[in-house]
Order: sequence, then C-alpha cells, then structure tokens
Amino acid sequence: MRKKTVSFLASGRGSNFRVVAEHVLGGNIHGKLGILISNKKDAQALELAVDFGMKAFFVDPADFRDRDEYDRELIRLLREYKTDLVVAAGYMKILTPVFVTAFRHRIINIHPALLPSFPGTHAQEQAFNYGVKISGCTSHFIDEGTDTGPIIMQAAVPVLENDTIEGLSARILKEEHRVLPESVRLFCDEKLEVKGRVVRIKK
Ligand code: GRF
Repeated sequence: MRKKTVSFLASGRGSNFRVVAEHVLGGNIHGKLGILISNKKDAQALELAVDFGMKAFFVDPADFRDRDEYDRELIRLLREYKTDLVVAAGYMKILTPVFVTAFRHRIINIHPALLPSFPGTHAQEQAFNYGVKISGCTSHFIDEGTDTGPIIMQAAVPVLENDTIEGLSARILKEEHRVLPESVRLFCDEKLEVKGRVVRIKK
C-alpha cells in the first residue's frame, strides 16, 4: 500500500501535531509528512514543523478577500505537496464548504469533548461548567458543520471531585494524544469506511 502524505493545519502550540508527526517519523503510522499551514504567525506549531524538517507556511488571512479565497490558497498548497490526509490539529478557523468538498472524508479533527456535546471553542470549560461527570475527546472527519462530522474514535475522561478546568483539560489532552495518532494510523492503513455519518473500522 502506498504511503499517504499527511499534512496539517494548526493555529497554536501544536502538541497534537507533534505527537502525530512523531508517530509518522517513528514508523507507527504508515505515512509521510507533508506540510503544515497556520493562520497564525506566532503559532508554535510552525517552528515545530521546521524542526521536523517539514515545509511550514503562515498564510495570512488578511491577504485574502474572503474565506473562500483563503481556503482556495490552502487547497492549492496542500495539492501542490500531494496531500492525501489533512489533520486539523488545533486549527481555530472554520473550514469553508469549498475546502471540505476538496478533501471530503480526508480531513480529521480532534475535539476536546464527547461530541455531539459541547461543540465549538472552550469545549473543556463548557463541559466542566455544565457539570458533566464524564467528558473526553473525539476524533472525526470534518464536514460543513461545526464539529458535526462522522466520528472516528472517542475516549472518555471522568470529571473528578475538586477537579479544575485546567486539570480536566490536561487529562483530556493526554487522551487526544492517543486518539488522534491512532485515527491517522487507521486512515493511512485504509481501515476507515464512512457510510453516511457512521465510520466503520475495518478489521
Ligand atoms: C486541543 O485541545 C484540541 O482538541 C483543540 O485545540 C487544542 C489544540 O492543542 N482542537 P494543540 O495545539 O494540539 O496543543
């Protein structure tokens, strides 16, 4: 089976990106590293990507007329570097239908809550303040909605007595670092089959 090229979109510190890149370089994921694109100039993920020997691009939203035009530039770059899979690793910008259509069922996102509960930003805080006893993380394919796409994997994390948002977030992040690379591994091994909104993991 041909090795898939895995590229990344990131806006921040890039810990999820780092873990996936390490799995690719370590051979646990049957893939190759593509490029990393950020919409934030100061994203730590950009430096990390350079450390991994990857091409890293800051694409400034201010240089584009609208979101469609911005996403068209992203598509162009990702295609230029022969991207098979796009991993949204802490990418804090909504992808347009133009982008989702170009990479249908080939964009994986990691979300720090058990979807469909608590979509959108500050999901750990939303769940904590709601008073849930269990939260967790979800990997899913991105569709046109906000955190609504077909679910690949989930991991549950209990909320403890005297928990804090920071403590809960850290324990969820630990699970993200397991769930995201595993989801990418399954994709690269062609083990994910999407039927409607249900993802089946082939044996
Ligand atoms: C993670 O909590 C992820 O679930 C969310 O954004 C955060 C990114 O963290 N989508 P990092 O940049 O991967 O460290």
